[in-house]
Amino acid sequence: MGTMKSVGMKLVICGTLEEASERAAGHVARALAERAAISPRITLALSGGDTPRPLYARLASEPFRELIPWHRLHLFWGDERCVPPDDPASNFRMAEETLISRVPIPAENVHRMPAELSEPGHAADLYEAELRKFWIGTPGDWPRFDLVLLGIGADGHTASLFPGSSVLEETTRWVAAPYIDRLKSHRLTLTLPVFNCADEVCFLAAGDEKAPIVKAVTAGDRGSSPLPAQLIRPVSGRVTFFLDADAARLIEKRDVISTQSA
Ligand code: 6PG
Repeated sequence: MGTMKSVGMKLVICGTLEEASERAAGHVARALAERAAISPRITLALSGGDTPRPLYARLASEPFRELIPWHRLHLFWGDERCVPPDDPASNFRMAEETLISRVPIPAENVHRMPAELSEPGHAADLYEAELRKFWIGTPGDWPRFDLVLLGIGADGHTASLFPGSSVLEETTRWVAAPYIDRLKSHRLTLTLPVFNCADEVCFLAAGDEKAPIVKAVTAGDRGSSPLPAQLIRPVSGRVTFFLDADAARLIEKRDVISTQSA
């Protein structure tokens, strides 16, 4: 196992999801602490799904918990399912149980997506208004998250940016409420330009079924119709993949620029 460099991204490959979560927790805690040294407030966009559970649990425990200046950290979400915050499918609920309820973060620093609202479009408008209020006065047309966490689906979706979705063409909105045919439901999601303006993006992926998409995304060649996860190319160039061995099993040596021991 080791750390590899591929086209414009760093790959941290570990044996298990637990090990990858441990490495990711160290990286996230240090990254937030570094940014807190130069900025009065720091921002983190959380991912949903199941894979980040052990990462969030590690961030809420030592030695990482004491590294993070929780009172200056603002939490946002990259995407959310259109369900109430206490619903088992809620990304907020997952983060609340594994992280937020276990760390001293002020309630006003937790910027949840209002996904329980009956009108997803209205929920997206409200969240965009909250982001614009938070980032008022900062230069540029887009918010600049210090750190964004993302997962990846076997079909190449990330956050709630799904293959073939018109939301991938978004050039002005910060938050969208696409209808996902495959899920027969709406989702709330930050848009591609927002992710690509982030100072740093970290993907966490595990499991055999993710191997083909991880290979496609880390190979760098996006082909003629890139998948959503392949469109995550932050201007800063800082992308790190934390992977378990199963998810990394198809990454070929020729796709890798350099390797070093873990
Ligand atoms: C969500 C996510 C989504 C997730 C992938 C991977 O709300 O579902 O944000 O993009 O990261 O679907 O999900 P798993 O981690 O459960 O495989």
